[in-house]
Amino acid sequence: MKIALANDHGGLDLKPTVLEVLRARQIEVCDFGTFTTDSCDYPVFAQKAADAVASGECELGILICGTGVGISLAANKVKGIRCVCCSEPYSAAMSRRHNNANMLAIGARVLGTEAARLIVETWLDNQFEGDRHQRRVDLITAIENGEKLY
Ligand code: RB5
Repeated sequence: MKIALANDHGGLDLKPTVLEVLRARQIEVCDFGTFTTDSCDYPVFAQKAADAVASGECELGILICGTGVGISLAANKVKGIRCVCCSEPYSAAMSRRHNNANMLAIGARVLGTEAARLIVETWLDNQFEGDRHQRRVDLITAIENGEKLY
């Protein structure tokens, strides 16, 4: 499995924790930066990682910014991306099981390292359940394709 990783300057501090989790699982990482604390624009990094997931180059993606909010909003503008911004493990699990989230966003200014570790591990440990949830995910895709659902 290959995971796309990206962050802005606000997310940099949490990147070592995420890398530790991924390396412990021998997951290959495509790190799209940023690599310094210089102020940068999170949409640029969100798009790099999201494009890698949308194209199939990476199976899943993890994003980090100050809150996880901006970088998730940006990633969700890329066709095919279902990015969840999470600050607790229950939503992380359900975003995989019910929503087939293919990207996770977390906030370095919101979470401590142990909470972040648990969220990332939980997100990786859960799988999409399909069935009725597939229909709903397909409807999300239909909205993305400009269809009216009502
Ligand atoms: C950067 O200061 C901060 O705005 C960014 O990391 C993120 O929290 C945006 O949603």
